[in-house]
Amino acid sequence: MLAEGTFDGKVAIVTGGGSGLGRAIALELGRLGASVAVAGRRPEPLDETVALLAGRGLAVPTDVRDPEAVDALVAATVEEFGRVDVLVNNAAGNFVVKAEDLSPNGWRAVVSIVLDGGFLCSRAAGKQMIAQGDGGAILSVIASYAWTGGPGTVHSAAAKAGLVAMTRTLAVEWAPHGIRANCICPGPTDTEGAGAALWPTEEDRARVAATVPLGRLATPHEVAVWAAALCSQYAGYITGETLTIDGGHWLE
Ligand code: HXC
Repeated sequence: MLAEGTFDGKVAIVTGGGSGLGRAIALELGRLGASVAVAGRRPEPLDETVALLAGRGLAVPTDVRDPEAVDALVAATVEEFGRVDVLVNNAAGNFVVKAEDLSPNGWRAVVSIVLDGGFLCSRAAGKQMIAQGDGGAILSVIASYAWTGGPGTVHSAAAKAGLVAMTRTLAVEWAPHGIRANCICPGPTDTEGAGAALWPTEEDRARVAATVPLGRLATPHEVAVWAAALCSQYAGYITGETLTIDGGHWLE
């Protein structure tokens, strides 16, 4: 959709960039000209993404829950590519569990990956963008149960709602620096991670697809193109907003 070269000279960080939607977003930004650092806990998938980024990728194994590791991620990106223009908070964890059966540690695991990780990465990248003095874009990946509630995923729903509030807050607080903060809200997207966590069998998958008015799961690429658009100059007057890309799922 966007012209090749849209991100020429720009540098992006994508968390959870080793797989699924994060990889698709990293590759789309790369296709459009960005240099891209991908972060995630396991090095092998990151290396695979970097191999697809045609020489403009950097793998930085990172646990986004660890403030020092997140600071090191931004430092490594700046060392390699000189700056940071775009941050995509995509890393997530999720599993289906009844709220009454969710252990305190299970709650903490998901909330800290999604919400602590989103904040720590925004803070570290935002400080770099503020120091650079010429703006930037932060995009966080949420889910519509941030506002509808999500029975069976109370940890993720609460954390994603937190990301929306964080995004709106940063949109205003960092507007004077020219930094925009937005969210995308994908519906069920055909990735291995989401499938394993949320629709492990073919039957589950068909049931989920049937809940989408458009009758199918999203491909990662059709979400990634809008992620890139929101991080581009074409969205220069959009901030604090959430773009839902879900085939009408949340309206059903
Ligand atoms: C119940 C579980 C569990 C499960 C883990 N726990 N999996 N409880 N059911 N299926 C509990 C553990 O028992 C433990 O608590 C605590 O959670 C931490 O588990 P660990 O495995 O030690 O933690 P960690 O290695 O940090 O793993 C984090 C994780 C993991 C969230 C649990 O699943 C993960 O990292 N997943 C990343 C990939 C992922 O899930 N992607 C899907 C995102 S898709 P105790 O009390 O036993 O110590 C998505 C899309 C939503 O979010 C879109 C909707 C439309």
